[in-house]
Formats: sequence, C-alpha cells, structure tokens
Amino acid sequence: MSASLSPETISIIKSTAPVMRQHGVAITTRMYERLFVDPEMRRLFDEAAQKSGEQPKRLAAALLAFASNADNLDVLKDSVERIAARHAAMSVKPEHYPAVANALLPAIKDVLGDAVEERIMNAWGEAYWFLAEILKSREDSIYKRGE
Ligand code: HEM
Repeated sequence: MSASLSPETISIIKSTAPVMRQHGVAITTRMYERLFVDPEMRRLFDEAAQKSGEQPKRLAAALLAFASNADNLDVLKDSVERIAARHAAMSVKPEHYPAVANALLPAIKDVLGDAVEERIMNAWGEAYWFLAEILKSREDSIYKRGE
C-alpha cells in the first residue's frame, strides 16, 4: 500500500475512531438500508453465501480498523486481502463502488446528525475512495489471474 492520504486527512480520520467504535454498526446498518433501495445491490448481497446479519458488523469493524490505523496502513494488509477475495467471489465490480459511497456518506450524517463538520465528511469521503482504490486494484488482479 504505497499511496497515502494527506497528513490532515489522516489526523481527522484518526480522531473519529472513538465515534466509529461507538456508532459504527448503526452507521453501516443505515448504509445497507440506503443501499438496498437499489434492487441490483439487494440482489448482489442476497446472493452472498452468508446471510448471518453479520455484514454491518464486519463493515463497521473494517472502517474502525481503517480509522484506527490510517497512519499505519500496512497492518491492514491481511484484512484487505480477505475483503478483496470475498468481493471477487461475489463479482463486485469497480462500477459498484459509487453506490456504496453514496449510501455510506449520507448514513454517517443520518446517524451522527447534520452537525457533523464538513471537514470530517470530506475526510471520510477521501478515505472511502482511498480504500476503494486499494480494493479495486487487488480485485482487478484477482480477476486477471482468473482466481
Ligand atoms: C471501501 C469500500 C468497501 C469496504 C471497506 C468493504 C468491506 C467489506 C467487508 C469487511 C466484507 C466482509 C469480508 C469478510 O467476509 O470477511 C465485505 C463483504 C462484501 N462486500 Fe464489501 N466493502 C466495500 C465495498 C463494497 C462494494 C462497492 C460492494 C458492491 C456493491 C461490496 C459488496 C460486498 C459483498 C457482496 C460482500 C459479501 C457479503 C457477505 O458475505 O454476506 N463491498 N466488504
């Protein structure tokens, strides 16, 4: 993971780790409500083998791990590999990423309130796309290798 976020974004993201710890699952639960308004998204997740209701917790844990380690992303390597492998197994495509961003970012405001500062929303927008690029590139090489 060679690319990096700006020092300012890293410090904002790290400062939100306690909020993510407390409200992460509420945010991701709300995110899925927003995402599943789109039948294509609903279908993609319905086809996933695990329907344990654990998904919002897993996504919240991934976001928290990211927030806590925004300045030391190498520790996230194994979890990035696991997520990319799972995504590839479910045929997640680059064009799916905007829909998740458009569900996740408003979900943060839904849960934390409109008072969330603009700089915090911007930092999470930047962080989402940073992580998305890492995942997309891993998924791309998995698809190219035909795994
Ligand atoms: C930065 C963006 C994203 C992050 C951080 C993320 C994170 C995760 C995590 C942590 C898991 C669970 C992996 C495991 O089983 O251990 C997962 C699974 C999954 N993700 Fe993502 N994801 C992202 C984007 C997307 C997008 C754009 C899609 C497509 C709409 C997607 C669809 C799925 C599906 C279908 C699963 C499998 C669900 C299941 O096992 O029930 N994800 N993702």
